[in-house]
Amino acid sequence: MSSEPIIEVRGMGKAYPMYDKPHHRLLQMMVPGPSSRWYKEFQALRNVDFSVHRGETVGIVGCNGSGKSTLLQVICGTLAPSTGTVHVRGRVAALLELGAGFNPEFTGRENVYLNGSVLGLTRSEIAARFDDIAAFADIGEFIEQPVKSYSSGMYIRLAFAVAINVTPDILVIDEALSVGDEAFQRKCYARINAIRDAGATVLFVSHSAGTVIELCDRAILMDRGEVLAHGTPKFVVSRYHKLIYAPVEKAAAIREGIRDETATRLKTQHVEDVAGAESAPEPSVSPEDAAYLDEGLVPQSTLRYQTRGATISPPRIETLQGRRVNVLKPGGEYVYTYTVSFQRAAVAVRFGMMIKTITGLELGGAASTPAGMSELITGSGDVLTARFRFRAMLAQGVYFLNAGVTAHDADGETYLDRLIDVAMFRVMPDEQRLATGTIDFHVASEINAEAVLVT
Ligand SMILES: Nc1ncnc2c1ncn2[C@@H]1O[C@H](COP(=O)(O)OP(=O)(O)OP(=O)(O)O)[C@@H](O)[C@H]1O
Ligand SMILES: [Mg+2]
Repeated sequence: MSSEPIIEVRGMGKAYPMYDKPHHRLLQMMVPGPSSRWYKEFQALRNVDFSVHRGETVGIVGCNGSGKSTLLQVICGTLAPSTGTVHVRGRVAALLELGAGFNPEFTGRENVYLNGSVLGLTRSEIAARFDDIAAFADIGEFIEQPVKSYSSGMYIRLAFAVAINVTPDILVIDEALSVGDEAFQRKCYARINAIRDAGATVLFVSHSAGTVIELCDRAILMDRGEVLAHGTPKFVVSRYHKLIYAPVEKAAAIREGIRDETATRLKTQHVEDVAGAESAPEPSVSPEDAAYLDEGLVPQSTLRYQTRGATISPPRIETLQGRRVNVLKPGGEYVYTYTVSFQRAAVAVRFGMMIKTITGLELGGAASTPAGMSELITGSGDVLTARFRFRAMLAQGVYFLNAGVTAHDADGETYLDRLIDVAMFRVMPDEQRLATGTIDFHVASEINAEAVLVT
């Protein structure tokens, strides 16, 4: 039956035994039975319910420890559920954590055969694919070396090469791709797309919002062992962000809010059980008014360098009309602003800002005056406001801001106050985006039809 889900998880729970002392594990093995329990149970998954249909690509997001890997392992059959049922109808190729699936003492070649046979291929079928696997892994002579001598990157190359060459019905990937280098990651994503296009089902865990939105038909948000939200990738990723940036005191309310929202959406959309379910529409907002304030979007890495006679107050991002925002529309114009109180006189004062990626890469910023050209002199008690108008020519994602004020003193130009990661903002996705990469350089493309010679 084609409408039968290829993966069906019903009321599934997984409890891990937790031992207070190492020797309790031993005692449990020696004296098993319900009367003497030497462990407590940790409920890593509870009441998980969802199904995946043939050909769907489903992303799983969630905080560390929320149960994503455990869920994938149960689906792959490497872990047994404690309660509920899991039905998987097809051949699963899995890329779980490093170490799973390979025998470290065997060579790469031997592991390809071992892995292939675990995945249900005969020896001659593996032999027929071996060259493709080795070529994809591209680890040269190491294919004949024991896997224990591999770097983590080499290991994942080989594991991925096997997984995609066994023509799986279901490909399960747990963050593994982030281990490989960029070129290899691209090659893998291209292959995943080809596998999807050929009709396979893909289930993968990723912390990258962009990847989930780009690749997936649907997404699931795991939270403390439960499915907190599921629906369109955009809906799920936005709720995931809301949750990770939630201030501690608001987390419980936000969690409940997401749960209610998901229940309402499911009632109206039947997202879960409709094969190839159409994406639920995002809440509609007019383009002019699309930027908004997400109170939870507060950096946790703010660092203040020692102040020397001036103090920067917490900066804000505003629309040109002065409305405070931090979720920005790509391409929109905004103002980054902060006030500085001077506790002493300063000469040649300059103000600065910098926008950075989540990895700290400085994308671009500005100073209020060119170096060496400021004639601004401030006195003790002065309060000045710096306003930097900028255009968010950025890809969707999260960005961080610095703020700084400098002046000239005996040692040359020095910071009077400097704040790192003092503010953050998120750029919304843009379905019409032509630009690729992080920064939109406003590239204009032109395609001209030339006479095509047909021979
Ligand atoms: N073998 C185990 N024994 C006991 N507890 C475990 C075991 N494996 C995982 N857990 C616990 O189960 C919970 C879920 O873990 P899991 O690895 O599934 O999380 P995750 O969402 O994949 O996290 P991450 O983003 O860090 O990979 C965690 O609290 C973890 O400590
Ligand atoms: Mg994990």
